[in-house]
Amino acid sequence: MMELSSTDLEKGWDSDKLPCHIAIIMDGNGRWAQRRALPRTAGHAAGAETFRRIATYCKDIGIKYLTIYAFSTENWKRPPAEVKVIMELLEKYLHEALGKMEKDRVKMKFFGDVTVLSPKLQELIAQTEELSAKFEGVQINICVNYGGRDEIVRAAENYVSDVKNGRIADEKLTEESFSRYMYSAGMPDPDLVIRPSGELRLSNFLIWQTAYSELYYTDVLWPDFSEQELDKAIVSYQNRNRRFGGI
Ligand code: FPP
Repeated sequence: MMELSSTDLEKGWDSDKLPCHIAIIMDGNGRWAQRRALPRTAGHAAGAETFRRIATYCKDIGIKYLTIYAFSTENWKRPPAEVKVIMELLEKYLHEALGKMEKDRVKMKFFGDVTVLSPKLQELIAQTEELSAKFEGVQINICVNYGGRDEIVRAAENYVSDVKNGRIADEKLTEESFSRYMYSAGMPDPDLVIRPSGELRLSNFLIWQTAYSELYYTDVLWPDFSEQELDKAIVSYQNRNRRFGGI
């Protein structure tokens, strides 16, 4: 058995068995704000701050992929003022990310149909994806206007269109070949999915990719989610026995 380093002992997890890909549903921003008699949008601002901290922590401890649910295809049902603030927070984050990209060397990708976002946001997304493509450290995937079912339907449409146009041979479709049509093409599936705020569901998040993911739920609201909370989730993950359908 490998000896645990002092850092491992401090954090409680084994650095040789870290999840390669962590996916997080950032939930509970609204309730966090409500409990402080603040507008819901203050909760989103605090949530964006937590995202910065957790992304930095993931990078520091050596997580390879972090996928975050920022805005779902269903979130358009929220009041326009709230949607506007979420988009502004995203814009602010991308501005900052671009500013320190050479230093951080984080690779960024966006999952979802971004063509309906503001031209400014689309431009920022294109720039961050393009400029960060060369980096090979942690990869952060931000899901915006993302829905798992929508992703699968788009994948099917694109596959059919490729066959029709002769871009690919009309061979038997396999799980592996179909995966290449997902936003996550070429990436490993999430090992660990974290949902804070006490809700026990996936809410249309990466439903294709999470077939064998370990799920971790906590009552902590996303703005209060700390590095120590992530440690706890990793320890829980490392105590699971992943069988992938075997015995
Ligand atoms: C869910 O909490 C949160 C969202 C729908 C928005 C998350 C967006 C951000 C934190 C800002 C932008 C993102 C980045 C990456 C900078 P909720 O509002 O559903 O909480 P509730 O269930 O308590 O109401």
